[in-house]
Amino acid sequence: MFNILPWKLYEADVERFWVHYGLLILGAVIVIITAIFQWAKPAPYGKHESVSSNWGCAIPQRLGHIFSDATPGVLLFLLVFFLYGKARGYANYTFLALWLCHYIHRGVLHPLMMRYKSSKVAFGITFAGFIPNCLFHFVNADFVGNAEYDSNYYYDPRLIVGLVLYVIGFTINRWADWKLRSLRSQKGDYKNGSTGYYIPYGGLFELISCPNYFGEFVEWIGWTTATWSLAGLVWMLFGAATFFTRSRHNHQWYKANFEFYPPNRKALIPWLF
Ligand SMILES: NC(=O)c1ccc[n+]([C@@H]2O[C@H](COP(=O)([O-])OP(=O)(O)OC[C@H]3O[C@@H](n4cnc5c(N)ncnc54)[C@H](OP(=O)(O)O)[C@@H]3O)[C@@H](O)[C@H]2O)c1
Repeated sequence: MFNILPWKLYEADVERFWVHYGLLILGAVIVIITAIFQWAKPAPYGKHESVSSNWGCAIPQRLGHIFSDATPGVLLFLLVFFLYGKARGYANYTFLALWLCHYIHRGVLHPLMMRYKSSKVAFGITFAGFIPNCLFHFVNADFVGNAEYDSNYYYDPRLIVGLVLYVIGFTINRWADWKLRSLRSQKGDYKNGSTGYYIPYGGLFELISCPNYFGEFVEWIGWTTATWSLAGLVWMLFGAATFFTRSRHNHQWYKANFEFYPPNRKALIPWLF
């Protein structure tokens, strides 16, 4: 039989129920605020670093990314899953593994290997990423650590389609970040100061300016579909609030800075946006 909700969560624990759903409501409010502010102005790092300098003292960029992404994405997630979570089925462990695949890469490997223009970032930017990450990562770890999935969920189309989307998005995101990284090594020795920006070509870059954001967006759509959760949904919407707005600013930045920027490219979604 097809269950609209293939899991049970906190049926006998009113307190935890309201902590979970209360944080989801707070998350939804943060999504709306993020979308409004980032649509108006890009967060001042990378290409948009010079937009504002009122974000506090400078800290090492690599350390900033590790702090804002690995602390909540790996450490907090593991603590919540194992110490606060009670459900221990194959689905719970599958979701834990998927999340860690993304965040061990994004929170540790990615910051160590990327070739940033600037070695420093304002602490305020790091902190502005860290706080919402803690909230969204807590609710997702809370959900996948406590939801009791139906025993036959392993052949449910939501899980299968979600996993396929997750893997496709993950692959696109990694490929696009690798391609951006390779731009600086192609143009000269990075260590000798090649920190400029170049037009990326090839693959999805022929259609959109930000395939790295597109890939991650597809990944979180897959996560939401596979977990079939509101926690996944608010996290995916938070990603969308960043990806749509920042890709729009990046796209405008490319057009303003490169006279011959390919005119048919879109910002984030091929042929549409
Ligand atoms: N889940 C979320 O809410 C969220 C939010 C933001 C980002 N992310 C993820 O985090 C990762 C990095 O995001 P990001 O915003 O830092 O991406 P980004 O602005 O595209 O930059 C990625 C890297 O490529 C370099 N780069 C970008 N465009 C370049 C060009 N035209 N020529 C040469 N180098 C270029 C950047 O250098 P500079 O640093 O010197 O600009 C940086 O090292 C992505 O995988 C993204 O999906 C997730």
